[in-house]
Amino acid sequence: CGIVGYVGPQSALDVVTAGLKRLEYRGYDSAGVAVQADGGLATAKRAGKLVNLEKELSERPLPAGSTGIGHTRWATHGGPTDANAHPHLDNAGRVAVVHNGIIENFAALREELTERGHALASETDTEVVAHLLAEEYSACADLAEAMRLVCRRLEGAFTLVAVHADEPDVVVGARRNSPLVVGVGEGESFLASDVAAFITHTREAIELGQDQVVELRRDTVTVTDFDGAPADVREYHVDWDASAAEKGGYDYFMLKEIAEQPKAVADTLLGRIDGAGSLTLDEVRIPANVLREVDKVVIVACGTAFHAGLIAKYAIEHWTRVPCEVELASEFRYRDPILDQQTLVVAISQSGETMDTLMALRHAREQGAKVLAICNTNGSTIPRESDAVLYTHAGPEVAVASTKAFLTQLVACYLVALYLGQVRGTKYADEIRAVVRDLASISGAVERVLETMEPVRELARSLAGKNTVLFLGRHVGYPVALEGALKLKELAYMHAEGFAAGELKHGPIALIEDDLPVVVVVPSPRGRSVLHDKIVSNIQEIRARGARTIVVAEEGDDAVVPYADHLIRVPVTPTLLQPLVATVPLQVFACELATARGNDVDQPRNLAKSVTVE
Ligand code: G6P
Repeated sequence: CGIVGYVGPQSALDVVTAGLKRLEYRGYDSAGVAVQADGGLATAKRAGKLVNLEKELSERPLPAGSTGIGHTRWATHGGPTDANAHPHLDNAGRVAVVHNGIIENFAALREELTERGHALASETDTEVVAHLLAEEYSACADLAEAMRLVCRRLEGAFTLVAVHADEPDVVVGARRNSPLVVGVGEGESFLASDVAAFITHTREAIELGQDQVVELRRDTVTVTDFDGAPADVREYHVDWDASAAEKGGYDYFMLKEIAEQPKAVADTLLGRIDGAGSLTLDEVRIPANVLREVDKVVIVACGTAFHAGLIAKYAIEHWTRVPCEVELASEFRYRDPILDQQTLVVAISQSGETMDTLMALRHAREQGAKVLAICNTNGSTIPRESDAVLYTHAGPEVAVASTKAFLTQLVACYLVALYLGQVRGTKYADEIRAVVRDLASISGAVERVLETMEPVRELARSLAGKNTVLFLGRHVGYPVALEGALKLKELAYMHAEGFAAGELKHGPIALIEDDLPVVVVVPSPRGRSVLHDKIVSNIQEIRARGARTIVVAEEGDDAVVPYADHLIRVPVTPTLLQPLVATVPLQVFACELATARGNDVDQPRNLAKSVTVE
């Protein structure tokens, strides 16, 4: 969910709705606002995307006010209806609250409130907070204090922002786990899940820590812990270019973000590699002697970041000879994984806020493992709670389906693998130097792929009526196939599956039928040529059974030509780096196919970009 709060001289409604627009990637099931006006609170909320709320506000404008809060929701408790949309109010309508997270003891609290005569109107866990705040406020007449008292009774993950009709020009927020950032302006203050919400107003930010409550007034920001003791906070300057969060002439953020990949890759390499083939990763503050002792690497991540982790495994094990496991963050801590001081856990997350990944890294640190985060969002929770962080420099990624962040995660994974190899010294020292040199030209290779995408778009449009597309790969091409399938599921809402090409004969081959599109990611014929020859056989096997083959192969690979109904060429790269070029056509393919089916590629149904619940 996305949260915004504002107090200052501007129209709170305008600031809050503009902020919500920039946070819509966090959820778009419903949206709502509340402003202090005429001694009371005026609210509006609507199921569906923010446009529905904007329409409602243009038809039934709210009175002007200078203090307000807003919310864009990704539904957890209760379906995406008008009634379940935030803000939630107490029975007297004097306090309004918005919430991100899940309050785990809400059923007990709800029962307690009902017994005391409160009438709860929605199915949400959030509404109990509005009622509890109203009770506490009536005793102490101080919203920040009421918030502290309520937070001490809540279990689970929550970020809360509230206003009270009796406390003009005050917004109060609280944070446990889910993100919340303060924006400090001139005579105005902001509160949001992400700096994107207020970046056009101020670049001065304060990061709230775990279990902190903030009271926002026009000229003051007061932060305490849940017991009321003053809290230490980190102030920082946001150096993002505000225009980076705009579409810049593209129809969709996703198209813009796909096009930005060469720059994102180059920026992520900048200052970290040199022409002589050596790496400098000063940010990795884990001492070299500790890295030399590491006897196992465990990668945890979700969604697209998990696919980056699967590719990293091939690179890490090859270049460092250290065993590497990759695990979905949501599964990790619940199976009691074996970790100790010699385990290096790598947590990959674009947003730095994914709750599953955060919980996995906390578990890893509790067991004594060192955690290195690979993250795209400065100041987010995952890097803050890790021992070290390697930032990807993709810039803000707004489209829900990850593209440029994925490519930069791959770059960061390669850097970590090569760096570990460099620090520990392996028999592959020469290869490592050569690959570092190859990385310097990889951004140009991605650029070349993008220049040749028209036939891919045309092919995608021609397949818009299909129900299923399969993806096959071997070695690092296998996770690329999984990522290609995930993109198609997320964007086109089609049945899409990725398989290891060698596994096909053990079951999935039964799915092949006449004219079924199958995308095959072919490894380079150089180097590990056995792998290449095997996949050429796999292509023949599926084609013999009627599949329509869409082959992604390196320039100059002639062996695939007779078996490819459609051929997509990618530049020659070292085998392990091929995902950086092979993924791009699959992103373009999914984006174009989804658009042809009339889908909103920036905001696919049911998804959110940053999932801050487990
Ligand atoms: C959500 C998004 C995915 C993303 C995943 C992990 O589910 O819809 O696109 O890959 O979270 O996000 P993270 O920010 O941790 O990389």
